[in-house]
Amino acid sequence: MGSYQQAGIMTQTHTGKIALVTGANKGIGFEVARQLGAAGVTVYVGARDPQLGEAAAEKLKAAGSDAHFIELDVTKLNTIQAAAETLRQKHGHLDILVNNAGILDKADGPPSTADPAAVRRVLDVNFFGVLDTTQALLPLVRKAASGRIVMLSSGLGSLTLNSDPTWSFAAYKPLGYNGSKAILNMMAVQLSWELRDTPIKVNTVNPGYTATDINDNSGTQTVEEGAAETVRQALAPDDAPTGRFVETGGEVPW
Ligand SMILES: NC(=O)c1ccc[n+]([C@@H]2O[C@H](COP(=O)([O-])OP(=O)(O)OC[C@H]3O[C@@H](n4cnc5c(N)ncnc54)[C@H](OP(=O)(O)O)[C@@H]3O)[C@@H](O)[C@H]2O)c1
Repeated sequence: MGSYQQAGIMTQTHTGKIALVTGANKGIGFEVARQLGAAGVTVYVGARDPQLGEAAAEKLKAAGSDAHFIELDVTKLNTIQAAAETLRQKHGHLDILVNNAGILDKADGPPSTADPAAVRRVLDVNFFGVLDTTQALLPLVRKAASGRIVMLSSGLGSLTLNSDPTWSFAAYKPLGYNGSKAILNMMAVQLSWELRDTPIKVNTVNPGYTATDINDNSGTQTVEEGAAETVRQALAPDDAPTGRFVETGGEVPW
């Protein structure tokens, strides 16, 4: 550990760890990046819009974090590959990958009425975007001493909860969104199994219903609360479990 000085501001003690958070220009992703930066992690603020991404990284830098914008649209393989190449050249490894970017689509809906085009759009970001990003970054995570991959899922991705008529969100059944998180959960279970003999931990988080743009700020939690479990998993110690589906306070049923 050591500390460093940037633009005359004394910054946090640096852990030497490098993190990439996708969709970090706002919402839970920005808050995860802020908390990781405050914990002394060098944080790459992934964003598809360079202006928004630069502005978010500047805000974190002004607060004393070692933060950097990196262009990354999870639906554009060229931007994912370019981001991976930048990280490879600069650091040669990646300690923490937070797959946070995600969307809802107003034309999504339950199976009888969902616009199939909307279901595809949601899967493109929430599942294929995570698959492409993870595959491109995994070689760098393998090079870290103890890599961490955190998937931003949702209770809405739980087959158990979706099957429970008494669940408080039982009536909320957008097939594309809930299905995208369910297949993301499957990916996380399978990836953690593939990586079981490595130091890498792959955990899946339900951030909880959090006030952000994705729900027109109707969520009941603050972004600080919504980011907390993801940050815990990103900084989990080497003896922490892998392959779990968790939220603040406990396990989520698959
Ligand atoms: N808020 C909740 O209650 C809640 C609950 C459960 C799970 N989640 C999950 O938590 C994660 C973060 O959501 P949030 O609530 O923070 O929503 P948000 O405020 O809408 O933020 C979503 C982020 O994803 C980015 N994004 C969208 N499409 C992208 C793409 N193609 N490439 C790269 N980035 C893209 C957005 O960038 P732009 O600004 O460019 O659009 C934004 O930075 C999502 O995976 C969401 O499903 C949220």
